[in-house]
Amino acid sequence: GLDISKLRDTTGYITLDQGYGNTGSCESAITYIDGDAGILRYRGIPIEQFANRPNFIEVCWLLIFGNLPTAAEYGDFSERLTRHAMLNESMKHHFQGFPTQAPPMAILSAMINALSCFHPDMNGADSDDQFIAAAARLISKIRTIAAFAHRSSIGRTYNYPNPKLLYVENFMHMMFSEPHAPHETDEIVRLAFNLVLILHADHEQNCSTSTVRMVGSSGANLFASCAAGVCALWGPLHGGANVAVLDMLEQIHQGDLSVEEYMRLAKDKNSGVRLMGFGHRVYKNFDPRAKMLQEVAEKLLKHLNINDPLLEIGRRLEEIALNDSYFVERKLYPNVDFYSGIILRALGIPTNMFTVIFAMGRMPGWIAHWREQNLQGARIGRPRQIYTGPTEHDYVPRDQRG
Ligand code: ACO
Repeated sequence: GLDISKLRDTTGYITLDQGYGNTGSCESAITYIDGDAGILRYRGIPIEQFANRPNFIEVCWLLIFGNLPTAAEYGDFSERLTRHAMLNESMKHHFQGFPTQAPPMAILSAMINALSCFHPDMNGADSDDQFIAAAARLISKIRTIAAFAHRSSIGRTYNYPNPKLLYVENFMHMMFSEPHAPHETDEIVRLAFNLVLILHADHEQNCSTSTVRMVGSSGANLFASCAAGVCALWGPLHGGANVAVLDMLEQIHQGDLSVEEYMRLAKDKNSGVRLMGFGHRVYKNFDPRAKMLQEVAEKLLKHLNINDPLLEIGRRLEEIALNDSYFVERKLYPNVDFYSGIILRALGIPTNMFTVIFAMGRMPGWIAHWREQNLQGARIGRPRQIYTGPTEHDYVPRDQRG
């Protein structure tokens, strides 16, 4: 690529690229995407190869450190995750300060930021040791915070992490146990949930990851940078889309609109309606994650003996869209959010937690990018602009303004 970072200094010109459709903001060795061919690779490994061995913790290590963990690395990292699952007791007061019904994404972002106050010694993450300690805490504690946010939002007591449980099982336990979470020990559920997290784990310079890098480029600590990533993910055009998909399917299911009426609105630019879970800035053929999730959704619902009418509505929307010139010409295909909600719903996860689970999955990606940028000694992010405001004019004293 052409490095135009000094173009302004040498020529006076500024490139304008709305939404950064064609501007590389960094060099990165973490994730490769070929949007035309529907290819996604983590550190060179095709995403499809994780389908049969879904282990989120391995993928966390792979993304952050660049290699699949050795047995010793895996053992050490798993042990750290188990050890750091607890939150400092005084963090509980923070949860209680939120009103019930507070959006869990708001709680998540605030509490991840708060973590930086509880681990000030790790804020610089200057050494490898400090960095691993901070990364392990974030990956482990985001799960505890997420479950506590849910318990707090429904006004129930917290379930403390159980060191005997694996990553996903422990999350389900903290979310639901009284005394046992549904599906807590179901192997197919565990694998499906692991795969959901893996498929969300990184996606190069998306909105939230670019946010983490931007905030981190000022020298902000890992916790603060990731808290900012959560805020970026919250929006309905990014991570919030998985909630919007479910709302859309529910709306159709409740009979407010038929599938055909919804599709008519989605094609009408004045309606403000979009076919949620469709379209992607980079994928212009298919999103490999959506394909994998569709398969998992079908398998899981069958296994759990669930007949979800929303899955059927999703299938019909997809079928119409794939044969409609509006969607075909604009290369709009299902994205990762289209089927993930159906899976999470089958596991009994409430809709307002979907984006939180996306954040749990994306955490290793954010951490990997923050670290990569720090190792590169990157320049602070500071875009330029094209000024469109008034030209110079004089200040008018208040008594002369009419
Ligand atoms: N429904 C209807 N029309 C759409 C949709 C959609 N879901 N997505 C894009 N379009 C249309 C646009 O109106 C535009 O039409 P035009 O060329 O006639 O003006 C054209 O397709 C291109 O769309 P853009 O908005 O320019 O695409 P962009 O790359 O900026 O946005 C995005 C991508 C945000 C994903 C968009 O497709 C969208 O809003 N989808 C729905 C929300 C969603 O599912 N987001 C999740 C993204 S994946 C993720 O975050 C994990």
